[in-house]
Amino acid sequence: MQESGETTSGETEIWREGSLVAYDRVPYGSDPFPQSHPDRAAMIARLLGAAPPDVETARILELGCASGGNLLPMAEQLPRATLLGIDGSRKQIEAGEELRQRAGLDNVELRHQDIATFEDGQPFDYVIAHGVYSWVPPEVQESVLRVIGERLSPNGVAYVSYNAYPGWHLLEMLREMMLFAARPFDDPGEKLNRAKEYVARIIEAMPADDPLRKLLANELRNIESDDPRYLLHDHLEQHNAPVYFDEFIRRAARHGLAFLGEAEFSQTDHENLPEKIRAELLDFADDPIRAEQHLDFRFSRTFRQTLLCRSSVQPDRNFDSVDWGRLLIATDASVDTAPLDVRSPMPVHFRREETVLRTRDPFVKAVMLLLSEAWPGAIAFSQLAQEAGQKVGIEQPDETSDRLARLVRRALGASIMDVRSSEPRLQAEPSERPRGSALAVAQAKAGPRVTNLLHAEVELDQLKRRVLANCDGKRDRDQIVRQMIELAGLDDAPSPQSRDVHDQVRARVDDTLEGLARMALLIE
Ligand SMILES: C[S@@+](CC[C@H](N)C(=O)[O-])C[C@H]1O[C@@H](n2cnc3c(N)ncnc32)[C@H](O)[C@@H]1O
Repeated sequence: MQESGETTSGETEIWREGSLVAYDRVPYGSDPFPQSHPDRAAMIARLLGAAPPDVETARILELGCASGGNLLPMAEQLPRATLLGIDGSRKQIEAGEELRQRAGLDNVELRHQDIATFEDGQPFDYVIAHGVYSWVPPEVQESVLRVIGERLSPNGVAYVSYNAYPGWHLLEMLREMMLFAARPFDDPGEKLNRAKEYVARIIEAMPADDPLRKLLANELRNIESDDPRYLLHDHLEQHNAPVYFDEFIRRAARHGLAFLGEAEFSQTDHENLPEKIRAELLDFADDPIRAEQHLDFRFSRTFRQTLLCRSSVQPDRNFDSVDWGRLLIATDASVDTAPLDVRSPMPVHFRREETVLRTRDPFVKAVMLLLSEAWPGAIAFSQLAQEAGQKVGIEQPDETSDRLARLVRRALGASIMDVRSSEPRLQAEPSERPRGSALAVAQAKAGPRVTNLLHAEVELDQLKRRVLANCDGKRDRDQIVRQMIELAGLDDAPSPQSRDVHDQVRARVDDTLEGLARMALLIE
């Protein structure tokens, strides 16, 4: 379904299939969460005209880090940074520590500690509290903001996610029904099943024309599609305290903190909202906090990922002081036309998940093509403007920069492009002696899901897992091939056939390495 796609140039439209604004739900457990990455915080801060600390050498603190699924990959991605994660669950910290040692990460510490008693003399440039604030008692909520208020460096940025009202009013009704049904049971799986069955029965018993029936049935469908761990945490745990955005900001202000933006670019830059909603926001032009609260009512918002800064930082919400030249742009959007003639007037579609960009504009085509060729690498804004301009014969640097800035702003809002503040340590092309991410290699021993160097979770098939396990930076491709042949129990004795086996396996290993590089699993 096309919901947003006003053309600005008359030649390019971007829309998201499905809902207009994707309100992310939290996959609990110990997973990587890209929105909480300091690079994301730094990028948003820069777009808002602030001067955040350099991520590569930053001091990073995660409160409630569970078993380090979010923090350990950051430690590998940022070897010059210093990271500390604390969590009140000893078991989770121990599991994380085991993985940390297996991956050989020595710039990160996982510490068993209560947030309420956390005292560390050092300032932190980035503080992360993901999936914690709404799920702890009020005194720990206060401690989360106290720690950030005391420890955040002058230009630092903190990320705090939480359940929000008004959307949670309806979800609370579901949660209370589920708690009621689950109370007599102990086993988490049983609790969950009984709770879901009970809600389904209540909905079923409601008159067909009851408007509440439809609303609850919708919510039940939504939550059923979520990870069961999310359901257990959000719906069946003792603490779940949603908060209105404006109240959250008042609480943060008591600790010297202020609203910077949201970790989702589409929710920070209102330029991407439909015109009607932008017009409504004019009523709140002098009060960004009320404007945000209005949007929460408008969209019945359930979840926020708010970035906080010190009250002394003055964000420029008009995006007038963006230093585009310093940013790196990337996308893995695929194109529906090959080979692509950028100068042809035919429309082409670029797609990334649910987002589609349709364009006839040669400059936009050239930008998208250059970026997808560079993926998983990124291209610096100024270089991209120049190279795309050259491809289509636009020589004036001011014009290409302006056009690229307009495109990037819209494409970021629709999540069809990423902006990075620093280049990840990855090999876009596999080398002769490829080296896999040590963390991913360690994770791949336990299962198919691993975290890549762009902080996303990816799933590996058996062949990729085996090849990755051999990418230690010492073996060359032929040694990896021989290892694969041995593992598969194939005959590699010198004979005309064995050369054939070797060549066939070599071709598959080469393909697999290309795949691993594109999945951002090979490290520099
Ligand atoms: C819902 S989980 C979220 C975990 C992780 N941040 C994520 O999003 O995957 C909440 C985490 O906060 C931790 N936690 C709760 N209260 C805490 C406290 N007072 N001090 C330290 N950690 C706490 C729990 O042990 C748990 O790991």
